[in-house]
Amino acid sequence: MATAKKAAAKKSPAKKTTPAKKTSASAKKAAPAKKADSTRNTGATAVKKAAPAKKALAAKKAPAKKAAARKTAAKSVTELLARGPLDAVKLLTADHREVRQLFDQYEELADREAEATERKQLAERVCKMLEVHAQIEEEIFYPAAREALSDDDEDLLDEAKVEHDSAKDLIAQIRAMEPDQDLYDAKVKVLGEYVQHHVEEEETEMFPKCRRRKMDLGELGERLAERRGVLLGDAVTGGSGSSSGGVTAVFGATAGQVE
Ligand SMILES: [Fe+2]
Ligand SMILES: [Fe+2]
Repeated sequence: MATAKKAAAKKSPAKKTTPAKKTSASAKKAAPAKKADSTRNTGATAVKKAAPAKKALAAKKAPAKKAAARKTAAKSVTELLARGPLDAVKLLTADHREVRQLFDQYEELADREAEATERKQLAERVCKMLEVHAQIEEEIFYPAAREALSDDDEDLLDEAKVEHDSAKDLIAQIRAMEPDQDLYDAKVKVLGEYVQHHVEEEETEMFPKCRRRKMDLGELGERLAERRGVLLGDAVTGGSGSSSGGVTAVFGATAGQVE
């Protein structure tokens, strides 16, 4: 027996690798738990998992650094179209990102109490972008979606239209004001939160349904790009995917001369 024990003891160094393996295995097992802990504390994930109403609240508290990071993250629709045609969902989603970036930029201006003219110019760019986005959705995308989706999804489209109308009301209020008036910055900020909520509904409910229904998103994308280009006064052409001059350049020239 003693010999057997000794033999086992001799073998033990080889077994020592087992605990090491166990440690790494258990670390792997522990990883998801740690991940879960860390994601619980991450604002961005909290936003993803939160209900729409909470999302707006969380976005409100998002650190300025995140807004700055987002500002450089997304390519403009014009840049994307220069690479090639976008299907309808991709185009509208890219437009959402572009508008979001403008809202982030506005928040930075408001935080550092930038000059009224600078804030007014940017607010007007945001308003015009939103106006054009809503118009191309209402003229082209929503009717096509209404045709393709089931009767059960009618409510989704009705609500989207009502949300557009509410956003337009707020846009009209902003345009009727001067940036040094009380509530000007607040109205722009609330418009941003309101639009964010609407965008999340489109991207998480409406757009996935449209993809599943196999709408001709390619053809719709071309029509949206063309109409968007015309409404923005841009030279973007939907079919060819070419562009000359960006949205920024266009707005730079036309800020304050809307409609
Ligand atoms: Fe919309
Ligand atoms: Fe949209």
